[in-house]
Amino acid sequence: MSISRRSFLKTGSALAVGAMLPNIGHSSTLSNISANDMINVALIGCKNMGWANLSDFMPHKEVRCVALCDVDKNILANAASKLEADFGQKAELYNDYRKVLERKDVDIVIIGTPDHWHCLQFVDACAAGKAVYVEKPIANSIAECDAMVKAAKKYNTVAQVGQQQRSSKHWQQMVEYIRAGRLGKIGQVNVWGNFNYAAMPAPVADSPVPDGVDFDMWLGPSPQLPFNQQRFHGSWRMFWNYGGGLMTDWGVHLLDMGLWGMDVKTVPNYTIASGGKFYFPEGAHETFDSLQVTYGFDDFIMTWSNSAGVESGPYGKNYGVLFKGTNGTLVANRDDWEVYPEGDKIGKTSMKADYRDHKDHVSNFLECVKTRNTQTACTIENGSLCAKYAQLGNISARMDGARLVYDDNAKTFNNAEADKYLRPAYRSPWIFPEI
Ligand SMILES: NC(=O)c1ccc[n+]([C@@H]2O[C@H](COP(=O)([O-])OP(=O)(O)OC[C@H]3O[C@@H](n4cnc5c(N)ncnc54)[C@H](O)[C@@H]3O)[C@@H](O)[C@H]2O)c1
Repeated sequence: MSISRRSFLKTGSALAVGAMLPNIGHSSTLSNISANDMINVALIGCKNMGWANLSDFMPHKEVRCVALCDVDKNILANAASKLEADFGQKAELYNDYRKVLERKDVDIVIIGTPDHWHCLQFVDACAAGKAVYVEKPIANSIAECDAMVKAAKKYNTVAQVGQQQRSSKHWQQMVEYIRAGRLGKIGQVNVWGNFNYAAMPAPVADSPVPDGVDFDMWLGPSPQLPFNQQRFHGSWRMFWNYGGGLMTDWGVHLLDMGLWGMDVKTVPNYTIASGGKFYFPEGAHETFDSLQVTYGFDDFIMTWSNSAGVESGPYGKNYGVLFKGTNGTLVANRDDWEVYPEGDKIGKTSMKADYRDHKDHVSNFLECVKTRNTQTACTIENGSLCAKYAQLGNISARMDGARLVYDDNAKTFNNAEADKYLRPAYRSPWIFPEI
């Protein structure tokens, strides 16, 4: 980024005015920042969600995609042709994200890689002075969450976590309704996510690495293992080295709403969880197809439950969050929220979603980038808190229901065995980022 370009992005108020005027960046009066009206975006991890995110950036007139990066050449080529077909743009193609970060003209990186990669790529992007849109869960361990929060602080990074529900009006109004105290005393918050995709068929044999895939770079800091189709695109979520099953995949979205509604900003007093592969013991997934977690607070409890392969759920919803108060119970998911009164203590209330949250989330981020505002709709701290909750649930269940008390200042559990789950051992040559 040239000096004038960087100062352009830093001078928020000037830009905010300019941004309201059509085509202002190409006007002769601003010719000294000729290309500077554009925000250059790079996408790292171009498949499912990465591409979906980029598609929400591209309709913004000021956005230009200058780099696409993926370790699978097939995915990369596909993304390049969609970029041209859908948005009429061409980008440089990369296999190694570090080369993307070396480019001075890249303003924003979108990280759409599997969870085990987020921390390194995020920290490196912060250090390279980029603004970052990072997918959820922000990381695959508690220590990585801390490293990312520290990096964003150190480099004053404008970061948005892909927990787009934070930008949705119906969730925002749900939080307002709850915090206004209308439900009375809330003693329980129940959160659940039941999805078939997290129950896998029986394991398949390892196989040769597909043509065009740099599998070593896909594994990155995770342990060296042979290629296996089931531990690759999409379904990596169900293997501990890369993800945490429904607990982390959906848990972070929905626990975030529970914590936001209850205005919780710290880890729970304790966590107790039980889980197993009870529905599909022969399935390839390592993560729990059945899981129940209880988080204890001073004056309420929050629970998480998931079933993979059985999609029934409370109130006819396969996923959601409910707040149970003395005046009524509020039940919410991405479709709507509705209050079920206790007798006639309060009136019935409901609200439908308008499903624009992904787009609004990206718009919020772009506005924050232009104004150098680090208080995005979902900050790295927001993402870190609920990722830690998801980790706590999985760790307690992996320890057969240990009652865990996590001290987020001392960075230790009340249980030495649990401490070993805090931080993954990075495979050489990758080094855990110490900030
Ligand atoms: N916000 C949401 O609602 C939402 C929805 C789905 C997924 N996600 C998140 O998005 C992320 C990606 O999930 P997905 O479903 O798209 O996974 P995916 O497996 O479909 O795609 C990941 C892509 O990253 C690439 N990749 C892996 N390592 C790389 C590296 N070192 N450099 C560059 N590219 C690399 C892979 O080759 C693949 O193309 C996850 O963190 C997931 O939790 C969020």
